[in-house]
Amino acid sequence: MKQHDASPLSDYVEYPAEEMLARSEAFYSDIKRRHSIRKFSDRPVPQTIIENCIKAAGTAPNGANHQPWHFVAIHSAEVKKQVREQAELHERGFYSGRAGEEWLDALKPLGTDDQKPYLEHAPWLIAIFSQKKGGLNAGEKHTNYYVHESVGIATGFLITALHNAGLVTLTHTPKPMSFLSKICERPDDERPYMLLIAGYPAEDATVPKHAQQKKTLDEICTFL
Ligand SMILES: Cc1cc2nc3c(=O)[nH]c(=O)nc-3n(C[C@H](O)[C@H](O)[C@H](O)COP(=O)(O)O)c2cc1C
Repeated sequence: MKQHDASPLSDYVEYPAEEMLARSEAFYSDIKRRHSIRKFSDRPVPQTIIENCIKAAGTAPNGANHQPWHFVAIHSAEVKKQVREQAELHERGFYSGRAGEEWLDALKPLGTDDQKPYLEHAPWLIAIFSQKKGGLNAGEKHTNYYVHESVGIATGFLITALHNAGLVTLTHTPKPMSFLSKICERPDDERPYMLLIAGYPAEDATVPKHAQQKKTLDEICTFL
C-alpha cells in the first residue's frame, strides 16, 4: 500500500433536506429513550447481536486508526459471579467513605449502593479495555494516540448500537477496576476503561428522576 493511498468515497448517502430534518428528529426521539438501567432481566440475548454492536463500536474514529481498544464480552455465569464479587468488594469501600462526602452526596439522587446484583442477572457484561501501545496490525507495540478520547467514542458507539438493537445498558465503573484485567486475562499494558452491562430491563426497572433532567440546548450549546 502506498503511503497516501486512498479510494473514492463510495458509501456516502445524501438525503434530501426534508428527509435529513426528519432523520435528525427521529434519531433524537429515539436516543432520548436511552436510560441507564440498574435492574436487569435474565432473559438471554443472542451473541450475534452483541457481536454486531461491538463491530459497530469498532468503526469509531480514533487516533491514527490504531483502534486502541479491546472488548471482552462476558456471558459465562462463573465469570459474571467473579466480577460481581470483586466489584461489590471494592464498592463497599467506596460507599463506606473512600469516595468522600461530596461524591457520595452527588450519587444519592441516583439511589446507587454497593449491591450490584445486575452483574449476575444481566445476560452480558462487556468489559472495555484501552491500549496505550498497539498499532493497526495485531502484535504491534507502537504508541497509541488520544487513547482516552478514542475509547470513549467507541464506547458511545457501543451504547448507541445496543440501544438501537432494543437492549438497555448501564455504564459501570467500579473503583478501582484493575480486578477486571485479571478476570478477563488481559495483558498489563491494557487498562480497564469501563464495564457495560447489557440486556433486557427487569419488569420493575426504574429511571431515577435526577437522571431524567437533561440540560436544554441553550445550556449546552452556543452558536456563533
Ligand atoms: C463514565 C461513567 C461512569 C458511570 N459509572 C456508574 C456506576 O459506576 N454506577 C452506576 O450506577 N452508574 C454509573 N454511570 C451512569 C450515570 O449515573 C448516568 O449515566 C447518569 O446518571 C445519567 O443517566 P442516564 O444514563 O440514564 O441518562 C456512569 C456513567 C458514566 C458516563
